[in-house]
Amino acid sequence: MEPMTRVTIAVSPRPYEAWIENGLLTRAGKTLREILSGRRQQLFVVTVPPVRRKWSKKLISSLSVAGFDPKLVEMPDGERHKKLATIEYLAEKLTRLGADRESVIIAFGGGVVGDVAGLLASLYMRGVDVIQVPTTVLAQVDASIGGKTAVNLRAGKNLLGTFYQPRAVLIDPAVLLTLTEREFRSGLYEALKCGVIGHPELFRQFEEMKESILTRDPAALECVIAESVRFKALVVSADEKESGSRQVLNLGHTIGHALEAETGYRSLLHGEAVAWGMIAAADIAVRTKKTNANTARRIRDAVLNLGPLPQLTVRSRGVVRRLRADKKTRNGVVHFVLPREIGGVEIVNDVPEAVVSEAVDEIRRLSRQ
Ligand SMILES: NC(=O)c1ccc[n+]([C@@H]2O[C@H](COP(=O)([O-])OP(=O)(O)OC[C@H]3O[C@@H](n4cnc5c(N)ncnc54)[C@H](O)[C@@H]3O)[C@@H](O)[C@H]2O)c1
Ligand SMILES: [Zn+2]
Repeated sequence: MEPMTRVTIAVSPRPYEAWIENGLLTRAGKTLREILSGRRQQLFVVTVPPVRRKWSKKLISSLSVAGFDPKLVEMPDGERHKKLATIEYLAEKLTRLGADRESVIIAFGGGVVGDVAGLLASLYMRGVDVIQVPTTVLAQVDASIGGKTAVNLRAGKNLLGTFYQPRAVLIDPAVLLTLTEREFRSGLYEALKCGVIGHPELFRQFEEMKESILTRDPAALECVIAESVRFKALVVSADEKESGSRQVLNLGHTIGHALEAETGYRSLLHGEAVAWGMIAAADIAVRTKKTNANTARRIRDAVLNLGPLPQLTVRSRGVVRRLRADKKTRNGVVHFVLPREIGGVEIVNDVPEAVVSEAVDEIRRLSRQ
């Protein structure tokens, strides 16, 4: 058997570990015994119906065999339920089931469950332990690492939240086999992003193992997920509360968010918007002479290799207008994370609107080929 990968997220006051291994779900009980050091804690597994149907049996039986008496607590599926009302609904359920300050919440699902259950844990009785057990690519490589929790408000996404680090993160790439093709690929773009920002070896794995990644070969998946987690852990450890260096993780997100907003959060998944945003960032980097054409081409090819991506119907004028609005709410500067080379980025504040506009025209053209 391959050795389990354990990655430390070095935050204060208590560092924690992400455990990454194919089949880990069936060993979750034993692993939690180790993490919770034998204390008899009540476990509450927060999840959504699709994840419960496909994977909860494995998790629950593993926890039961290890001597826990886990209780399932369900919330409705989907981004639109990532709201404060769901937190209250779940908290009421917890009290009825007898959850106390020693109880442990297990966030078992994609990024929505992770964000909701994480925020719930930070509030319930002024804070109980939470274990993240992410089940989408996006949640495994991104959302479950770093302790950001949030729900949405009418005015915008993730406006109500906390920094609240989990006790541990248990990642089993085997659960990704039941994701839809689109959800699966969408998460991979965030992993590829880590490669561009600061992990050239990971980027090369995407170039060289494309086939085995896309066919969800267990060893290939475990490898790219572990490397992405390793990278995000380093970035988070250096800047826990996002006061500076953690910004590099926003590669592809400045334009990506504008694309999501311009399309009313309907036609693009988050990762897909980031994918187009990364290609646009590479294009901007060439136009502003931060990088060379070859680097930009490698980024574009690696992104498109994980495709197909949905067509873009947005106008560059609309995207530029969104960024201008962003600028007003962010002290007059819009930060662009631009690639300098594979594995190195630079933060730039003064990208001219005309350049942004040309880059958006370019990705629109590409999306129609
Ligand atoms: N906290 C952070 O740092 C952070 C970072 C990035 C994104 N996020 C948040 O994450 C959310 C998006 O997460 P997501 O993309 O995982 O979406 P999601 O949680 O909505 O999951 C996508 C869909 O896949 C289903 N699903 C989950 N696991 C499955 C499995 N193994 N098999 C089959 N279906 C499964 C879900 O039920 C859902 O229908 C957004 O709300 C975003 O704001 C948070
Ligand atoms: Zn993202």
